[in-house]
Amino acid sequence: MSEFKKPSAAELDRMSEDELVELGTKLDGVEIAHREPRWPEEIKTRAEKRAERSVTFWFALAALLALAFIVIYIAWPWHYKGWQDDGYWYYSLYTPLLGVTLGGAILAVGIGAVQFTKKFIPAEVTVQTRHDGPSDDVDRKTIVAELNNSWKTSTLGRRKAMMGALGAGGALIGIAAIMPLGGMIKNPWKRHEMTIHGDGTLHTTGWTLASSERPDGLPAEKVYLGRDTARTFPDGHVPEGVGRLERLRIEDLAAGGLESVFPLPASALGDFHAHMESIHGARNSVMLIRLRPEDTARVIKRRGQEEFNYGDFFAFSKICTHVACPTSLYEQQTHRILCPCHQSQFNLLEYAKPVFGPAARALPQLPISVDSEGYLVANGDFIEPVGPAFWERKS
Ligand code: FES
Repeated sequence: MSEFKKPSAAELDRMSEDELVELGTKLDGVEIAHREPRWPEEIKTRAEKRAERSVTFWFALAALLALAFIVIYIAWPWHYKGWQDDGYWYYSLYTPLLGVTLGGAILAVGIGAVQFTKKFIPAEVTVQTRHDGPSDDVDRKTIVAELNNSWKTSTLGRRKAMMGALGAGGALIGIAAIMPLGGMIKNPWKRHEMTIHGDGTLHTTGWTLASSERPDGLPAEKVYLGRDTARTFPDGHVPEGVGRLERLRIEDLAAGGLESVFPLPASALGDFHAHMESIHGARNSVMLIRLRPEDTARVIKRRGQEEFNYGDFFAFSKICTHVACPTSLYEQQTHRILCPCHQSQFNLLEYAKPVFGPAARALPQLPISVDSEGYLVANGDFIEPVGPAFWERKS
């Protein structure tokens, strides 16, 4: 800067934009070694029109893809469908279509920006020396002039179609990027039909079907403790009457053993798809544990849950009361259940009360019994919500 005499305010006001740009670059220690506009100012050549169409195409494509993402996100059938259900193929395309449209929109706007820079921004080689300290008035005024000049030389101002496509693409991609947040806005207390998942609120699970006080007012169903056989049918054809869950008898589990079980309503025996729904129920999984008789004798039961076990059999929700990971690591020597997420430990001999780690509440216990045929069944629902804390829970 020292080699220039700073212009006075009056001189600055008299200077044209080009002169301010030149002054600004010099004041910044910037030397423009080469600068050449890509296209002549007024005459549009065919090559220029072709370049403009190409850039406009990419921005318009970005806008279209972003719009398609928004429409698919809102209107495409996204509710879970099983392999043989009507509409399965539409449902299975939901996630790929979201990925392709949003990814394509971002890619298209990127290609358009690169093409625009290469084809319309003047070719320029500049050299700048670094300097320290804040900018003064002269610098600020000249930088504004430089920015204005950049805008003009970019020729964007006179390319209306390209500007429109760029604006639409940018706006729609912005909307598409924040739209998925809308899916997180839900009313957690809106009740739906009571199904093998519960009724959609945090107070219910598939085991609620066995409750004598069901929220839908219907009578209690018989709900077996269903063991997952992990049976699959890779060709997609499930034979009639073949289920995935199986009922358990007490002799099916050895002393000291643990089995993961899911609600298996009597009305859904042999219904493979209903069983898969049960397994996918977020709050459904339960640990059935058979203690050794000498350990059962040491058990301290929680008040109000004295009759919840059936002999040596105890059933506890698998959903950790910290932040809902599955707590299925059972150490039978110490009788502790470990949650692998943050290492909470629950003492089975004391109603699965937490004894280590961040979890603050015991795992809810499912009341169980055995029916006249010898199968293990739920003897009602949990008496408290499963999983982590939420504002409205009272226990
Ligand atoms: S979720 Fe189990 S300890 Fe955090």
